[in-house]
Amino acid sequence: EAFDVIVVGSCMTDLVSQAPRLPKAGETIHGHKFFIGFGGKGANQCIQAARLGAKTAMVCKVGKDFFGDNYIQNFKDNGVHTDFVGQTSNSATGAASIIVNDAGENAIVIVAGANMLLGSEELHKALPAIRHTKVLVCQLEISPQTSLQALRMAQENKVKTIFNPAPAIPDLGPEFYGVSDVFCCNESEAELLTGSSVGNVDEAHKAGQELLKRGCRSVIITLGPQGCVVLKVEEPSPKYVPTTAVTAVDTTGAGDSFIGALAFYMAHYPTMPLEEMALRANRVAGVSVQAVGTQTSYPFRKDLPAELF
Ligand code: RIB
Ligand code: NA
Repeated sequence: EAFDVIVVGSCMTDLVSQAPRLPKAGETIHGHKFFIGFGGKGANQCIQAARLGAKTAMVCKVGKDFFGDNYIQNFKDNGVHTDFVGQTSNSATGAASIIVNDAGENAIVIVAGANMLLGSEELHKALPAIRHTKVLVCQLEISPQTSLQALRMAQENKVKTIFNPAPAIPDLGPEFYGVSDVFCCNESEAELLTGSSVGNVDEAHKAGQELLKRGCRSVIITLGPQGCVVLKVEEPSPKYVPTTAVTAVDTTGAGDSFIGALAFYMAHYPTMPLEEMALRANRVAGVSVQAVGTQTSYPFRKDLPAELF
């Protein structure tokens, strides 16, 4: 069985409170709505790719608990292959406490739990599938060593890789760049990794050039409503890809929608220019910010204009 997209990454139960603003330290404020949703960057990206029509598998670990059982059902409901979803009684399913303000911005604390127990053993079980997938995607909500090992396995088998260094760590190992066909991060992650401010397209171009120098084949820095910049080893000049403005209700997981869509395009249209894939992925993510929640807001292929396919 060959997959289009395999994600080696995280699952989190999102505990979301909507409030007028984000609270300050020591402060209690009234929010107006609470809901529980399926999240975690890895799973979010996998679900978005699946909803666009990619044949997907998730390599991850959840707890042997109510949230873990529910999460496995969520993958099944979305047509994601679950043979590589492990369950452990040594830790709880990952959880994310999320506050979303009236501007659609958020603050998140994650407790990765079972996600941190995903390791070599599970990767070896998934290796036959990893060998034959079109695209492999990793982030940083599991042990970085596990992400790196997965990316290496993919690279050794000539599988295209997308690495999303999120949440970013300032001391990201230099080995991550060489195993990334597409190194895709947002402006704040790019700032943390390069140590220089990324507040506009010009600065994003500079940060992108710095990241590209570290050894990845291409770099995408997403800039929210401003679109993104795309840089490739084979074409030295950075490309700015603008996007159309939308009214944001909840931007949580928009970056994951973008990456899931990008993985879908890389698998289904391997010869499409990366800028075009990024433009289309931005359109998909733009739909997601117009509805509340993470996965609940991710569009299906049938909800999107035909020109995106
Ligand atoms: O990127 C958004 C995701 O980050 C949320 O779903 C939350 O689970 C955190 O992992
Ligand atoms: Na959303």
